[in-house]
Amino acid sequence: MLFNLYEPFIRPVIFRFDPEFIHEMTMSMLHCLGRSPFSFLLSQKVAYKPVDVMGLHFKNPVGLAAGLDKNAVAIDGLGKFGFGFIEVGTVTPMQQPGNPKKRLFRVVPAHGIINRMGFNNDGVDALIRHVEESSYDGIIGINIGKNKLTPLEKSFDDYLICMDRVYRHADYITVNISSPNTPDLRKLQFGDYFDTLLSKLKSKQRDLSELHGKYVPLAVKIAPDVTDDELSSMAMSLLKHHMDAVIATNTTVSREEVYDMPYSYETGGLSGRPLLEKSTEVIRKLKRILQEEIPIIGVGGIDSVMSAREKINAGAKLVQIYTGFIYHGPKLVKDIVDNI
Ligand SMILES: Cc1cc2nc3c(=O)[nH]c(=O)nc-3n(C[C@H](O)[C@H](O)[C@H](O)COP(=O)(O)O)c2cc1C
Repeated sequence: MLFNLYEPFIRPVIFRFDPEFIHEMTMSMLHCLGRSPFSFLLSQKVAYKPVDVMGLHFKNPVGLAAGLDKNAVAIDGLGKFGFGFIEVGTVTPMQQPGNPKKRLFRVVPAHGIINRMGFNNDGVDALIRHVEESSYDGIIGINIGKNKLTPLEKSFDDYLICMDRVYRHADYITVNISSPNTPDLRKLQFGDYFDTLLSKLKSKQRDLSELHGKYVPLAVKIAPDVTDDELSSMAMSLLKHHMDAVIATNTTVSREEVYDMPYSYETGGLSGRPLLEKSTEVIRKLKRILQEEIPIIGVGGIDSVMSAREKINAGAKLVQIYTGFIYHGPKLVKDIVDNI
């Protein structure tokens, strides 16, 4: 009921303010309210639509995408909205400020967002503390990345450090090599870099699963801005290394769908409705190669039941939302879960 007010009344007010300011306010509110006796105010009942993926049991297939709760401060509050899973991060070994502000822009006519946050986060130790403090009992994915100042040749170490630290606390781990806002990061998706990274991650996973007596699946998150050949060769490497899942996709650097709209000239990754087709196409192509071998998690432009169904029809077993959630509020989670 309360959430029906978001689009007509709340969104017009908050969209008058700077996006990052509103984001921080909302995170603080969710942090406080989510752990208070008034947390029921955030509660939303959604249908039980169980699905098993990566050996994990999800109570429904609709998750929160990475980047909204980078430091895992609001898991309890966000959990009340009915998500089937929550992905926190991207987190890096050391805390870092990210790119200079302003770095977050709403492309309202297209229901899009452009961001060049640059992995602003409080570091992996802070994130773990917050996950430990949370009482959320659903599935938590932890998304890991590299520090900006770590040279590309040393970037494997950053992923391994993060993996080491988050392993015990995560239900699954996402390896983010697809943000357009960390220089050279996307190079890790190709050729020897990709192969070496996957091999190191898998070997680390073997060691850690023995140490902790727990197998934590590894998902790789990829960009939509890849050629067919690049995508095929990525898919072959994912198969070769027996990765547990692939998340398609991150934001796009393309501006084709928002040409001449406000802020469309800003550097960064574009998300939301203008990304929908491009990212669904990546899922379709991946599915043709991966078949049932590696599950696909579909993300990019989902803002309705129909767009979520498109991802599933293209081959996704789970979906995630971010920008659609900003434009439509918590009601979108219920709409999709109940009707998918
Ligand atoms: C402001 C913002 C910050 C983001 N930060 C991250 C991040 O830290 N790590 C990541 O893997 N994806 C990040 N993303 C990408 C989203 O997780 C998602 O892949 C992308 O936005 C496409 O989904 P959407 O169209 O539903 O937003 C971010 C997206 C936005 C809009």
